[in-house]
Amino acid sequence: MKKLKTPISLLLAVIMLAAGFAVPVSAAGMTADDWNSYYYDETGDALKGLIMQPGSDESSRSFSWYADKDAAACEVKLADNEDMRGAKTFTGALDGTYQGDKRARVTVTGLEAETKYFYTCISDGYESDVYSFTTEGDGFSAMFVTDIHISGETDSLEDVKKDALTFGNIVSQAKEVSKANGREITTVLSAGDQASSGFRSEYIGLTASEAIKSVDFATSIGNHDRKGVDYKFFKSVPNEYNGLVNSYQGGDYWFTKGDVLFMVMDSNNGSGVDHHSFMQKAIAKNPDAKWRVCMMHHDLWGQTLPHREQENEFLRLLWTPLFDEFNVDLVLLGHSHCYSVSNIMYNKESVTDLRDGYEITNAKGTVYMVSGSLTRPRSGDYTYGGNIGIGIDDSEKIVYNIIDFNGNDITVTTYDAADASVYASFRLVKNEENKPVKIAFWRVLFSRFADLCGTIFAVFNNISVTKKLKDKGYDISYLKTLFNTRDGASSPMC
Ligand SMILES: [Fe+2]
Ligand SMILES: [Fe+2]
Repeated sequence: MKKLKTPISLLLAVIMLAAGFAVPVSAAGMTADDWNSYYYDETGDALKGLIMQPGSDESSRSFSWYADKDAAACEVKLADNEDMRGAKTFTGALDGTYQGDKRARVTVTGLEAETKYFYTCISDGYESDVYSFTTEGDGFSAMFVTDIHISGETDSLEDVKKDALTFGNIVSQAKEVSKANGREITTVLSAGDQASSGFRSEYIGLTASEAIKSVDFATSIGNHDRKGVDYKFFKSVPNEYNGLVNSYQGGDYWFTKGDVLFMVMDSNNGSGVDHHSFMQKAIAKNPDAKWRVCMMHHDLWGQTLPHREQENEFLRLLWTPLFDEFNVDLVLLGHSHCYSVSNIMYNKESVTDLRDGYEITNAKGTVYMVSGSLTRPRSGDYTYGGNIGIGIDDSEKIVYNIIDFNGNDITVTTYDAADASVYASFRLVKNEENKPVKIAFWRVLFSRFADLCGTIFAVFNNISVTKKLKDKGYDISYLKTLFNTRDGASSPMC
């Protein structure tokens, strides 16, 4: 399907014209040769899989990495200069991993807005290189990607290295593009399938590039992350909600940046009772957030893969009433590997058309956006569902997105990774006349019933999930899968 083109307003025409020219991007990232020598160093004996994830709000960040099984302590040093003069030390905790070594987790707090920080991570007598990141101001920019799929179906180091280089270089390009446009990205949002097989080596590759260590990296769990157990130990997220029924690898979590509440959910887990409870709690803690953005893995409205439509219909029954009830503005998705942006959706119908270049003020519904895979684009011609406003004209095109959060508006721009040119863009605006839509009582009743059915389904679904993991040789139990028990210290719950 071709991208749907329509006339745009004069204002947007100017904006798009300015953005439409490819930003000159220098050779972003590394060459394969440079990467090979860097990667050997990076994945040496210590501090593997170092990742910085969001803290509960913009004043904090969560750091984690693999540490030796004998490690007794872990800490992050933070300073406002590259020489680390006057560095402040934050001490964390060590959790056991499936492999028997440890995962270091350190939360850094008290960060000030629009400030550049430098950090090193320390455990087992090793200290990482010095990396840096910058905190957000009132507005901020985030990169949105999905289905990074580090590696294939094997644990091949060469495959991991190749895909890790691709990912690192695309992040580098997004940093250059956003910087050239006036505000460099400070966050990467990834809607699942970070790995292909859920191997630890894939998560080490995922976090290997220096580019990803200078942004906070928020990830949701994909079905491929659930093919192993390592994602559970790899991530370190704030406000994780471990309710009644979970995936073994983790629960939903939330964080805020500026006036945006991000709710990151596990769509592998059908337990609607838990997802509803999570969203209720997250919103109750952040009642004044102007924007609500959700991220999870499964594509709901693209309808590009007919063989998945039975599953998708179940997912739409479960999830769309939740997004309607809680007035979610934007839902970021993946899984189909087919880029699509829906119209404004409410009660499973398009209520306002959304096309490339459109600006929608006070939308009475939700935009569902799916990005394509960064390493595994799906070839072939697609027919999109009738609720899709922006599609893609070349299914093999690799795209990424930069989302500018500007207080009263959110601008989403999709870039072609081949040349950093703009592929499509749209904007959501809220003014003082914006009012939340109140969901009908009968729909709430139906939604609670669907939630309960989803939770019962999840209880039984976890039996097959556990069996599949056991068949692969993982030593886990059904109860551990069901209740997401942690080995070691637990995350704070919302
Ligand atoms: Fe995928
Ligand atoms: Fe997937």
